Amino acid sequence: MSQPTSAPEIARGLRGVVLDTTSTCHIDGEAGKLYYRGYSIHDLAEYSTFEEVTYLLLYGRLPRRDELEEMDRRLRQSRSVPAPVLDVLRVVQKAHPMDALRTGVSALAAFDPETADTSLEATLRKAERLIAQVPTLVAAHDRIRRGLEPVPPREDLSHAANFLYMLHGREPDAEAVDAIDMDFILHAEHGSNASAFAARVTVSTGSDIHSAIVSAIGTLKGPLHGGAAEAVMHMVEEIGDPSRVDEYIQRMLAEGRRIMGMGHRVYRVEDPRARHMRERARALGERLGQPKWYQILERIAELTAPLRSRGISLNVDFYAGSVYYLLGIPEDLFIPMFAIGRMPGWCAHVLEQMQDNVLIRPLLQYSGPIDLEYVPIDQR
Ligand SMILES: CC(C)(COP(=O)(O)OP(=O)(O)OC[C@H]1O[C@@H](n2cnc3c(N)ncnc32)[C@H](O)[C@@H]1OP(=O)(O)O)[C@@H](O)C(=O)NCCC(=O)NCCS
Repeated sequence: MSQPTSAPEIARGLRGVVLDTTSTCHIDGEAGKLYYRGYSIHDLAEYSTFEEVTYLLLYGRLPRRDELEEMDRRLRQSRSVPAPVLDVLRVVQKAHPMDALRTGVSALAAFDPETADTSLEATLRKAERLIAQVPTLVAAHDRIRRGLEPVPPREDLSHAANFLYMLHGREPDAEAVDAIDMDFILHAEHGSNASAFAARVTVSTGSDIHSAIVSAIGTLKGPLHGGAAEAVMHMVEEIGDPSRVDEYIQRMLAEGRRIMGMGHRVYRVEDPRARHMRERARALGERLGQPKWYQILERIAELTAPLRSRGISLNVDFYAGSVYYLLGIPEDLFIPMFAIGRMPGWCAHVLEQMQDNVLIRPLLQYSGPIDLEYVPIDQR
């Protein structure tokens, strides 16, 4: 077969490739704007709740009060996970929490009554169940690995409050609930990022939502996607004191190293979600008598100002880690926290892909040798 005369243009990392249309989310990376189904992230962060944002993303519009109450009731009633799934978490208790979460969601598929039904209606019901169950898996695994019994979910608490309750075994205060609710809202959806893309690829083959969420969790785990908040907090702890920031950051910049919590494939200016977490990080640090973490972050932000002219600005994860840290959340739970928040977005992408499906299957241009002689193994 003859070789093509001109090679097709390659978009490495699919950079700049428009995959399809979407009504879930709009990101204006130049202006630093983010909308979920047409609503500004700033309004949602200020006035909404995670439950309402979940309805918005799953059903495409803001709910009436009775609709929200009805969906919230279903979520609250779906929080428990089957006992054998908790046993699976016991078996994998030494695994990283993201590996345990991925395994837990996979195990849930074996017990969901509608796993094999890939109709839109069944997928929507499974989406709600999974959104409700994922926090239970994260909290239960953390308790098990600490030698404690999982705390059963409570139906009288909000999504954020119940998660903190199951994690710490005591009712959280209002400020902690508010910070985590906001964090979940800010992480709920973000277009065709790598994990949402992975979820869409999975269902584009006709596969089911449990498989798609397993793909998404595995994809989120990587440090270039979900791991940044944890990496930022490592850096901040390593610096340890505001007086040591200048020396540390100047050395990183001189060595041309990446500073975590900065830069984004889409945003050229500050990530619009960052300001909401910044305010939470500041307020929580002050209230808990630990302002130094925020002071370190602000000094890092000042020293890295020259990067802004190259489009490398602060992203949401720059401040998220310090909020989690101040709320007593272990560092390796930072990515699972992101996953809990992102569940409605992943589910919305799964539903959107299913509604007008096309198999996602790009090409690779072959760059290896061709027509090599096959030499039998004992003659090589
Ligand atoms: C998010 C990220 C992967 C986006 O990457 P991308 O769109 O593929 O951009 P690239 O990795 O090609 O980076 C482009 C340039 O900016 C630089 N850059 C990107 N992020 C940087 C950072 N955080 N600190 C310093 N320099 C950075 C790169 O070194 C590169 O410079 P070069 O052109 O001189 O080689 C990247 O910015 C990053 O690694 N950030 C840190 C991790 C992070 O915070 N992730 C969370 C995202 S919400």
